[in-house]
Amino acid sequence: MADHGASGELYSGELIGMLEFVWGEGWLSPGGPEEVATAIKGISFAGKTVLDIGCGVGGVDFLLCETHGARYVTGIDVEDTVLTTARQRAEAKGLSDRCGFVKVWPGPLPFPPESFDIVFSKDAVVHIPDKHSLMRDAFRILKPGGWFVASDWLIGHDGDPSPEMKTYIAAEGLDFGMASPKRYRAALEEAGFRNIGIVNRNGWYRETARQELARMEGPLYGPAVRRLGKEFVDHNIDIWRKMLVVLDTGEHCPTHLRGQRL
Ligand SMILES: C[S@@+](CC[C@H](N)C(=O)[O-])C[C@H]1O[C@@H](n2cnc3c(N)ncnc32)[C@H](O)[C@@H]1O
Repeated sequence: MADHGASGELYSGELIGMLEFVWGEGWLSPGGPEEVATAIKGISFAGKTVLDIGCGVGGVDFLLCETHGARYVTGIDVEDTVLTTARQRAEAKGLSDRCGFVKVWPGPLPFPPESFDIVFSKDAVVHIPDKHSLMRDAFRILKPGGWFVASDWLIGHDGDPSPEMKTYIAAEGLDFGMASPKRYRAALEEAGFRNIGIVNRNGWYRETARQELARMEGPLYGPAVRRLGKEFVDHNIDIWRKMLVVLDTGEHCPTHLRGQRL
């Protein structure tokens, strides 16, 4: 199981530190600005109000404002450590008037109907097991014409995960509630979304994760151990090795998702 750190939260200060070593400041998920640009391609954020589900430490929200021109991004998350960090960084960047960070509890999204132009998420819906309720809720809070657009970590099939996938998920120690592309499509369709897009990013991440592991074992290792301790860094290297097994089989499939409320 993951070390949840002194805070008792899943995304502890220690885990945030480790993930930012690998993925860069502001990022608790892979790919950075380039991967976001690929996920949102063809959907304009300029002048839009955006909800970001599972905002983490806010890197993606700053990007959506500064690079993609979003008018206002509301980032929501269930954990205090990430939210406090996101608020401090928004302040430091002078973006507090364009990025707000709100604590929520698992369950219905606490916003009135037709509140947002875009509902966005990067690699956080994996933590929300009931995809059908979430998609219904996303549809409800979107204005007509608005988009749900996300990347997320999916499992390639319905039914029981393989032993290798179970080993990987257990090593992560996070509350992963992974679902198949088929289940996401059904959830999007039943919620009423149209123009649905589901794009498997396994090929990209299989290669990228290999490079991440090489950096963790190479140039990042010393600095990360000095900051976070050998045991914690070695544990994360072990997670990456287990993840590569299920990326190589295609069972772990990071995916881009989108659907429009007409
Ligand atoms: C892998 S991190 C991604 C963070 C950020 N989107 C990024 O790309 O850097 C997943 C985030 O989802 C948050 N999370 C977990 N369950 C959630 C829920 N039910 N509602 C909102 N956020 C949640 C976690 O606390 C964590 O910050």
